[in-house]
Amino acid sequence: MPRRNKIALIGAGNIGGELAALCARNELGDVVLFDIPEKEGLAKGKALDLEQNGAVLGTDAAITGTSNWADCAGADVVIITAGVPRKPGMSRDDLLSINLKIIRNVGENLKKHCPDAFVIVVSNPLDVMVYELRRVTGFPGGKVVGMAGVLDAGRFQLFLAREAKVAVKDVRAMVLGGHGDTMVPVISYCTVDGIPVRQLIAADKLAAIVERTRNGGGEIVKLMGTSAYYAPASAAITMATSYLRDQKRLLPCAAQLNGEYGFEDLYLGVPVVIGGSGVEKVVTIELSADEKAMLDKSAAAVRELIEASKKL
Ligand code: APR
Repeated sequence: MPRRNKIALIGAGNIGGELAALCARNELGDVVLFDIPEKEGLAKGKALDLEQNGAVLGTDAAITGTSNWADCAGADVVIITAGVPRKPGMSRDDLLSINLKIIRNVGENLKKHCPDAFVIVVSNPLDVMVYELRRVTGFPGGKVVGMAGVLDAGRFQLFLAREAKVAVKDVRAMVLGGHGDTMVPVISYCTVDGIPVRQLIAADKLAAIVERTRNGGGEIVKLMGTSAYYAPASAAITMATSYLRDQKRLLPCAAQLNGEYGFEDLYLGVPVVIGGSGVEKVVTIELSADEKAMLDKSAAAVRELIEASKKL
């Protein structure tokens, strides 16, 4: 018998709450909002508020708050935001030792309760967290992805659209590499409805936009004292929707690489196709020598952090 999708959100904080709101509004499925026992009240309170929100809006989804892993059992999609966010002055990498312990705990529980889920990791430092989650669970690489590129590309598209004075939906931008200062915005693949952005925006302006995109997360942390949540949540929901509805969207995600782009045993931001079986394809694009050098540098930074994580 057909049944509704079940979406487990691990972490009921700022991003977790917004994820639940988007799942409900889009009627993606029933939602379990999970947090640690000390935050169970927060998870239950947000769940109840959101169910009541649905009653006002006329949408219907069961939303449950819990600190009991058994309630997540059988989830079709799991989105992980468990962990601490950045504070001003911190880099994503500064979160490593705290969030590593959390992701290992989450991984052990997913293995037990959600072995068939498509898992999207959002916690930072992203590329290491998603690598570690896959390692701990032993899940197939195609069922574990990291959310970074959709957000970074979104930020890039916004800044390009504002500069070119065009609608943001007509701008397509490509971002590769790690989710951090070494991310690689690939200008040769950025277009306004097919027109290369280099024809529309001067080189110095483009360089400034690339820099702002690299620091897009930090800019918000500085303003709010914590990290962004609306756009990160929308980006993760875009990926989850592509899986649940077999949309086969081509999206930049942190994906497991097995030789693609010359990298083995690594998670890195690359274009992938997400469909009903998970990551159905890692798409390899041609890069200039400069772009490949930037990607190599980004991969080296991610690998360094992975090595550091092995000692923690
Ligand atoms: N299991 C489940 N939830 C946990 C665990 C755990 N072991 N440890 C912590 N959490 C919960 C916290 O209790 C908190 O409610 O994760 C939630 C995180 O929420 P916020 O502090 O509001 O952080 P948020 O802004 O949602 O960001 C979460 O995503 O983008 C990244 O850098 C960001 O790593 C951070 C994560």
